[in-house]
Amino acid sequence: MHIDLTKKIALVTGGGSGIGKGCALALAEAGTLVIVNDINPEAGHDAVIELKKQNLSAEFIEADVADDKSVQILASTVRSRYGKLDVLVNNAGFNLFKNLRETEPTEWDRIMNVDLRGLYLITRAMLPLLDTAGESSIINIASVHAKLTISNIAAYAAAKGGVVALTRSLCQELGPKGIRVNSVSPGFVHTPLLERWLASEPDAAATLKKINGYHPIGRIGTVADIGHLVRFLASNKSSFITGTDITIDGGLTSRLMH
Ligand SMILES: NC(=O)c1ccc[n+]([C@@H]2O[C@H](COP(=O)([O-])OP(=O)(O)OC[C@H]3O[C@@H](n4cnc5c(N)ncnc54)[C@H](O)[C@@H]3O)[C@@H](O)[C@H]2O)c1
Repeated sequence: MHIDLTKKIALVTGGGSGIGKGCALALAEAGTLVIVNDINPEAGHDAVIELKKQNLSAEFIEADVADDKSVQILASTVRSRYGKLDVLVNNAGFNLFKNLRETEPTEWDRIMNVDLRGLYLITRAMLPLLDTAGESSIINIASVHAKLTISNIAAYAAAKGGVVALTRSLCQELGPKGIRVNSVSPGFVHTPLLERWLASEPDAAATLKKINGYHPIGRIGTVADIGHLVRFLASNKSSFITGTDITIDGGLTSRLMH
């Protein structure tokens, strides 16, 4: 399927690393000018340099998606430079492996502020620009933890469940304006976030082998796997898809444990 996103403007939050970086590449390869946002300026700048080396169009804008002032500055910069936004990928996020007793209120708040409230702040600030673009698309990166989960990850699971619910409601609100809203729920994806978790395991190689084996297709996901789906959802090839959550997990959550 040929996807052409020439003349489109996209914003990818947390685009300096992992899934966000993969989405930025997939969108830029289709002709989009990609605004890479990240709280980490080094990662964001490096991601843009990598894209530019491939003759792709990108620029970096630093912002913390959990901070309203920072988000307002990001929105006014996008407004003054481009005047519209065709694609918004709400990707910035992180997880927390802790049981509820050990989860401090500050940690709970930070997860909620970045993984859920950040989507609200960014989407709200970008709405006029998405409206101006017409036929625009919002893609929220949720997680399989929104539906099926494990113990000791309550704050993250709750935030990602919120992302899927927010997606459904926003689809109702924004459909009449021609704005589609979907979420994507990855399972295990090889990113720096996953690397950090593997590094905390007693034997990272053995753990990776074990989790690869959980997947009917024998491997965990790549950032390109997620980028390709996001590019499709950004394009008019998916013009009748809105309000849905697409699981992308190599069959992980089809599995009945026994
Ligand atoms: N890796 C996985 O297996 C996996 C699975 C399901 C869902 N996800 C989700 O995908 C998204 C990306 O995860 P990843 O694995 O690529 O992580 P990552 O840590 O590799 O990248 C996340 C990026 O987001 C940025 N970021 C963090 N907080 C931010 C903030 N407040 N404002 C702006 N940028 C911020 C970080 O600096 C980083 O560059 C997250 O929402 C995560 O929950 C990841």
